[in-house]
Amino acid sequence: MCPPDYYGIEYEINPWMSTEKQADHAVALRQWQALRECLIEAGAGISELPPVSGLPDLVFTANAAIIYQQKAILARFKHEQRQGEEPHFRRWLANHGLQVFDTPSDFSFEGAGDALFCGETLFAGYRLRSDAGGHQQIGELLGIRVLPLELVDPYYYHLDTCFCPLVEDEAIYFPGAFDDYGRRVLAEHVSHLIPVDESEARSFACNAVVVGRTVITNSGCPLLHEQLRQAGYSPIATPLGEFVKAGGSAKCLTLRLDGEEAAHW
Ligand code: ARG
Repeated sequence: MCPPDYYGIEYEINPWMSTEKQADHAVALRQWQALRECLIEAGAGISELPPVSGLPDLVFTANAAIIYQQKAILARFKHEQRQGEEPHFRRWLANHGLQVFDTPSDFSFEGAGDALFCGETLFAGYRLRSDAGGHQQIGELLGIRVLPLELVDPYYYHLDTCFCPLVEDEAIYFPGAFDDYGRRVLAEHVSHLIPVDESEARSFACNAVVVGRTVITNSGCPLLHEQLRQAGYSPIATPLGEFVKAGGSAKCLTLRLDGEEAAHW
């Protein structure tokens, strides 16, 4: 995680962001600390990336890279406003024992924001931020199967805003963020899909952090939490409204270094 010292809405690169709807710094800091506490209580250890002035979105560490065993495929951001984050992520990952690879040239790729393991398969969102061709090359580099999912709604511009693997055969998703083909790919490859209502998807219900059976989301997702309880999970709500103003929530604020719960490896 990266503390929100320099977090703010300084540009607009997704439909959630408006420089006229500024984040409240004190509230953002409290919300970030509360998320950190929830993660620790769920059993996670937290390593921090030092914040950098002038990089307001550096808090969204999910976008740094994808991690596969000891390898990290570094992001290449689509928007120049975030490209300055890349060297900071690169240095941090290399200093923490990961072997860092660049995204294959000429492709944009936004890390775990757009690439999530469910079982042995890497589900990869493309079009709005990451390129499908790059995903295929990443799959070859890592020797894993990649299933591309086209993201069709600009509000759900990263895969982690509309899809969250829980365990290897179960995931949360917002159907409206995918086309028919994408919905079919999901249905054919994930045996238990928990659909989220549009009203809760807008509260970033799908942007959950999974630690064991604990599933942490923004507050305002009671229907999903009820479904999760019925499926044997322990959902936790923590308010993250200040980060929703930038188009992010719980999952975006974290990068799992030891393998997502749902990842086979
Ligand atoms: N403002 C950031 C952006 O548009 C938010 C990133 C959210 N991260 C995520 N993994 N969905 O890039």
